[in-house]
Amino acid sequence: MTACPTLETERLIMRPFRDDDLNSYAAMMDTPELRESLRIPDGKGRTEAWFEMAWWRGQWELRGTGNWALEDKESGALIGRAGLHNPEREDWPGVEVGWALHPDKWGLGYATEAGAESIRYAFEDLDEDCLFSTILPDNHRSQSVAKRLGFVLVETKVLSHYLHEPHGIWMIKR
Ligand SMILES: CC(C)(COP(=O)(O)OP(=O)(O)OC[C@H]1O[C@@H](n2cnc3c(N)ncnc32)[C@H](O)[C@@H]1OP(=O)(O)O)[C@@H](O)C(=O)NCCC(=O)NCCS
Repeated sequence: MTACPTLETERLIMRPFRDDDLNSYAAMMDTPELRESLRIPDGKGRTEAWFEMAWWRGQWELRGTGNWALEDKESGALIGRAGLHNPEREDWPGVEVGWALHPDKWGLGYATEAGAESIRYAFEDLDEDCLFSTILPDNHRSQSVAKRLGFVLVETKVLSHYLHEPHGIWMIKR
C-alpha cells in the first residue's frame, strides 16, 4: 500500500513509481532534451534517477503529494512523470504541479492530460485553494502546458534551490 493513489485519464494510468520503472525512467532522464530543460548536471545518472523515484514515493507517504509515474494505457510503457511537488524549502511557493515526458511523447497532449488530472486531484481531494508551477523562462513548452491548464505568471524570481537563473512562478486558483 502507498499513499499515492492510482488514477486514470483518457490515455494514461497515473500510478506510484515502482522499482522496475528504473530502466525507463533513467533512460528518459538521460535524454539531451530533459537534461537541458531540467538543467541536470553532468555526472547525474541512473543512481539519481532511482533517488528521484524514491523521493516521489516518499513524498506521497510523508506529505500526501508527489509525482505519479505516467503509464501509456495502450502500450503499458512508462512515458513520463507528472503531479504534485511540495518539498521542504523555505521559499517554495506551495503545492506545485509539474510534468516531464520522454521526448518521443512530446507534442501529443499527455502533459496537459496528466496536469489537468493533477489539478483536479489537488483541488478536489486535497482541498488546496491555490497551486503553483515553477518554470524557467526559456522552457516554452512547459509554459504552454501551464497556460493551457489555466495558470498565469505572477512573479519571476530566483529560488534558493537553483541560484543560477530566475524561475517564473505560475499560479492557478480553485
Ligand atoms: C514540458 C513538457 C512536458 C511539455 O510536453 P508537450 O508535449 O509540449 O506538452 P503536452 O503533452 O501538453 O502536448 C502539447 C502539444 O500536443 C498537442 N496536442 C495534441 N493533442 C493534444 C491534446 N489532446 N491536448 C493538449 N494538447 C494536445 C498540442 O497542440 C501541443 O502541440 P505543440 O507541441 O505543437 O504545441 C515536455 O517538453 C518535457 O518533458 N520537457 C522536459 C521536462 C520539463 O521541462 N518539465 C517541466 C519543468 S518546469
